[in-house]
Amino acid sequence: VSIRRANVDDLFQMQHCNLSCLPENYQMKYYFYHILSWPQLLHVAEDHAGKIVGYVLAKMEDDVADGSEQHGHITSLAVLRSHRKLGLATKLMSAAERSMVESFNAEYVSLHVRRSNRAAIHLYTKTLGFDIHDIEAKYYADAEDAYDMRKYFNARK
Ligand code: ACO
Repeated sequence: VSIRRANVDDLFQMQHCNLSCLPENYQMKYYFYHILSWPQLLHVAEDHAGKIVGYVLAKMEDDVADGSEQHGHITSLAVLRSHRKLGLATKLMSAAERSMVESFNAEYVSLHVRRSNRAAIHLYTKTLGFDIHDIEAKYYADAEDAYDMRKYFNARK
């Protein structure tokens, strides 16, 4: 399995992977919006047969306080059940984070995750070094709370 930048031809397989892994789903135009706006950030994990087995969908966001400053945001991350616990999500996230810094000079990256999502919370806090920045009550459609997580790319906060 190899990690590489996504291209437009990958978007349908990325959406398929999202549909089979997560209850948060998006119209195809939202995938296009991401890849047209921030083509450096989207990455996929591809198996030997060319099948997409994982993806990270990411974007940049303006900080309200200072219009010139931008931070990265992970819209969605998933790896097919058959390919989990192989380090693929770690590699996808690292690739997206690196591109946020190199291409956009991001100060930090943010994301939302369900409070009950033990696997993802382990990945973000233990493996990747994210901290819980805030809790957003009833963030999800089924009223589950979200952890609003952040990872700063330099030591200062
Ligand atoms: N329980 C506990 N720890 C786990 C689990 C689990 N089920 N799965 C992975 N981990 C740990 C690994 O052991 C590893 O820990 P280590 O670095 O201490 O050894 C770490 O998490 C990273 O493991 P990876 O192999 O890189 O993760 P994987 O490729 O299996 O993908 C993911 C993890 C993306 C959470 C996967 O389980 C998945 O697709 N789940 C369903 C979709 C999902 O929840 N996506 C995230 C939603 S939040 C968002 O999209 C912003």
